[in-house]
Amino acid sequence: MSRRRLFGAAGAAGAAVVGASACSSAEGRPKPQDAVRGTVVAQTTDIPEGSGKVIVRDKLVITQPKKGDFRAYSAVCTHSGCTIQEVTEADNIHCLCHGSEFDIATGEVLKGPATEPLEKFGVTVKGTDIVLDEDE
Ligand code: FES
Repeated sequence: MSRRRLFGAAGAAGAAVVGASACSSAEGRPKPQDAVRGTVVAQTTDIPEGSGKVIVRDKLVITQPKKGDFRAYSAVCTHSGCTIQEVTEADNIHCLCHGSEFDIATGEVLKGPATEPLEKFGVTVKGTDIVLDEDE
């Protein structure tokens, strides 16, 4: 195979990969969190005040920026889609893949490379149960 033909084939393969990636966009597909809407996703007693916890199973981050004020965000990082792994000692939501950090009170980006905030979800507290709200 000539060099020109070899590079042409490689370019076509790359375009196919890009095309496949575009086709697997999240648009229109159910979100992992949809499966747990209306269910208990955490206990208030498990979420530290002024910090939060990652619920890996449900791809959620639950935070409590102020006493009794619970918030939920998607744990899918807006940079490249890693599952966020931790809420740091500095009380930021932290993605270890490339170092992005998000605010526990708003989900806004505090440190890139991510540029978009985390998706927010509504929660309702019933006793000590934190219930992920149904579709808004
Ligand atoms: S995927 Fe989270 S910082 Fe890159």
